[in-house]
Amino acid sequence: MNITVVGSINLDFVASAPSLPAPGETVTGATLMRHPGGKGANQALAAEKLGAEVALIGRVGDDGMAGVALALMEDFGVDLAGVEVDIAAPTGVALIAVDPSGENQIVVAAGANHMVTPEQLPARIEGPLIVQLELPIATVEAAVGRAVGFVCANLAPAAPVSEALLRRADLIVVNEVEAEFYGDLLHHGGGRVVITQGARGAEMYQRGVKIAWASPPKITAVDATGAGDAFVGAITVALLDGMEPAEALKFACAAGAVAATRAGAQPSLPTRDEVEALLAKA
Ligand code: RIB
Ligand code: NA
Repeated sequence: MNITVVGSINLDFVASAPSLPAPGETVTGATLMRHPGGKGANQALAAEKLGAEVALIGRVGDDGMAGVALALMEDFGVDLAGVEVDIAAPTGVALIAVDPSGENQIVVAAGANHMVTPEQLPARIEGPLIVQLELPIATVEAAVGRAVGFVCANLAPAAPVSEALLRRADLIVVNEVEAEFYGDLLHHGGGRVVITQGARGAEMYQRGVKIAWASPPKITAVDATGAGDAFVGAITVALLDGMEPAEALKFACAAGAVAATRAGAQPSLPTRDEVEALLAKA
């Protein structure tokens, strides 16, 4: 299975702190780690580690952060031929604070991600496509418009998109906050809509009717960063593999659960064996 991901690439600076700061508050006593991240890159690596052949289209800066941001995808064989180097804008950066319960706060400086224009995309995108909303929306819209196969749209972070995109998507994945933002619009297209609910699991809808749901295996969360992206990669791979909706949701919830048990976004993404092991234990 060959999947194209059109999406963001970030370097994540993760501060594990005793608590998350309130507005205007300074929290001290944190430890800092740097990990590859970005929703597009995370989802590309997630799908690759679960057995797909993935090509990523995106953009990094001409700086020292780019190599770190791409390193894990390189290690696991994600096709990065479609990643261009921008001479002016820096590699995208996410500042992430994580508290002891695994809850996070993220601020993204998009940098080169916001320089991905429709001109960088092929005229036709063959095979399955996964998009998120960390690139310019016009670029995301163009990617979906040029896709001839299965389209998974992870509408994160929530932003206005065209009715055409919502109708074209075969699978829409949102969390509860994003679901609230889009409301009924999500269900007009006839595709499947998945609403993730963190530790409570996920539900799948079609034309507003709930058709499947799953709850994740019990785990101890360390860092939820990357759990949503693990879920998106996993549900896409599972549905393309021919799993039934309920089974696919269960598989994707387990993938997200594994990611939440480990620090960072990309370093926490599971292999297929790890997902299956957690499912077998549950
Ligand atoms: O979904 C998690 C990701 O969101 C992080 O890796 C960070 O880069 C932000 O884009
Ligand atoms: Na994680």
